Amino acid sequence: MSPQATSKQQAPKILHTHHSAYRCFDAEETRRFWEGIMGMELAAALSFDHISGTDEKLDYMHLFFKMGDGNFVAFFDLPDHMRPELFKIRSGFVRHIAFEVATEAELETFAKRWRDAGLQVTSDLDHSFVRSVYTFDPNGIQVEILWKEPKYGEILAGAKGDVDRSMKAWNEKTKARKDAYRKAHAA
Ligand SMILES: [Fe+2]
Repeated sequence: MSPQATSKQQAPKILHTHHSAYRCFDAEETRRFWEGIMGMELAAALSFDHISGTDEKLDYMHLFFKMGDGNFVAFFDLPDHMRPELFKIRSGFVRHIAFEVATEAELETFAKRWRDAGLQVTSDLDHSFVRSVYTFDPNGIQVEILWKEPKYGEILAGAKGDVDRSMKAWNEKTKARKDAYRKAHAA
């Protein structure tokens, strides 16, 4: 069901992400990438034998890797629930995590660290407002390191000014396709 606005009252302002969580194949291998290569400290490695708040038995580990701003990237290692398709590389450009560095030199350092670790730098793109390099972590998750180019603020302000026109044009362009999909997949 499509979400509807529930209240005219303004929603509280979300401060920032605290963590985003993903499934990992192996805690140790995941640590080698996220701590060893990406430089994020493994701040917690919590081992559980049942699902919180229930009696359901499940062995799992919850890992938290810390970024410079105190936020985390988290993983779950569930050894009894591993299926190869869960760790396949997905279509990267529609599903990835982007991390910001302060300088272009640091972006290049990350690209080098990935290559030195035997990983592929899958793209190095100048998006005109940010430059981005991409790779994949051991769990098939695309990772982006970005550096804000000097025109970042100006270009983003222009994009903000264009939001309503752009949304209207997109909705009109794709309406027939979306309607056809909804009709075909109606419950
Ligand atoms: Fe991105």
